[in-house]
Amino acid sequence: VTSAESPRSIFEVVEAQRLGCELVGSALYAAILDEVAVDLRRGGPLARPLETVLDAPFGDAVLLRLLAGLHHVVLSGRAARLAGHYPSAGGRVRLGPELGVALRATAEEHAAELASAMVVGVQTNEPGRSAVLLGGYLAVAAEFGLPLEVLEVGASAGLNLLFDRYRYLDVDQAFGPPQSPLVFERPWFGGGPDLSVPLVVAHRAGCDRAPLDPTSSADRQRLRSYVWADQLDRLARLDAALEVAVADPPRVDRADAVSWLEGQLLRRSLRRATVVVHTIVFQYLRTADRRRFVDLVEGAGACATIEAPFAWLRMEPGGDSAELRLTTWPGGGTRLLATSAYHGPPVVWRERSS
Ligand SMILES: C[S@@+](CC[C@H](N)C(=O)[O-])C[C@H]1O[C@@H](n2cnc3c(N)ncnc32)[C@H](O)[C@@H]1O
Repeated sequence: VTSAESPRSIFEVVEAQRLGCELVGSALYAAILDEVAVDLRRGGPLARPLETVLDAPFGDAVLLRLLAGLHHVVLSGRAARLAGHYPSAGGRVRLGPELGVALRATAEEHAAELASAMVVGVQTNEPGRSAVLLGGYLAVAAEFGLPLEVLEVGASAGLNLLFDRYRYLDVDQAFGPPQSPLVFERPWFGGGPDLSVPLVVAHRAGCDRAPLDPTSSADRQRLRSYVWADQLDRLARLDAALEVAVADPPRVDRADAVSWLEGQLLRRSLRRATVVVHTIVFQYLRTADRRRFVDLVEGAGACATIEAPFAWLRMEPGGDSAELRLTTWPGGGTRLLATSAYHGPPVVWRERSS
């Protein structure tokens, strides 16, 4: 998804998002988007918050902002009727006409709040993506045999900066602290990476243009609102990751990706492998910033040595799946390591350990 694509009509955007929801099994959100399409045609209350963003690029994911706005009202206990349809609030998925009635009543009553939700970018912090990234970090550790210095842009609350504090189980190996509240059970489809590679994170830091603080209950509620309301496994995963983060919060600076990275790259350490990482962030950068970002990364790569190697690890859209790619320097070779669902598992690992 890039903003350089030719513009799509809001109806095409709704349909693409609806299909995306269907594809990952969110029947509730697919049905809600059907109702949004109806209101767009007849100017109903669900369409009103979208009026200011009709021309936004597809990559801005404006419908996710609307869905999160509705979910936030439900989670904060101010939409009892709609909550009856939201499993995250104790309801159950019912796709009949009452869903449309409850949605429209909520959109009328909370119109101002939904309008404000449309000006805030999507900040889903999905710890399931750690199960995709882990293999990439292990590949860097295996290649260079050095502690890692991890720099994540667009880190949101920084939950994926804590990837090594979660537990991952494969058939006959495991990685991460056994007592971690977040456990991934066989996230790989048909075999994963070699989990026995020694991996130490010597330093971790991230940036986000609007970071969320895992120790703030308001920010935790916002993070929960970005999870699709009928995906209770994802909510449980988020809550478990938040428990880890609250105990020892990661550093996430409030900064723009390009300027922050530029500053970070001035301070590279010897005998550490620097890894610049991002997951589902590139579509939110302006085209010029994306270019500057790649120039920075490639410039840093060109200066890398075997004592101060450099890696660029990214999980970004690749059509129906997300793709995990790794470029390492010296050398500058790029590998497609894995494909996965957009929120993480199942991960199809492409470089088998045996
Ligand atoms: C879809 S979220 C993904 C968050 C996180 N990477 C994850 O995968 O869980 C995109 C994140 O990128 C951040 N973001 C967007 N544009 C940015 C920019 N120019 N500089 C820094 N962060 C940015 C947003 O605030 C948001 O937290």
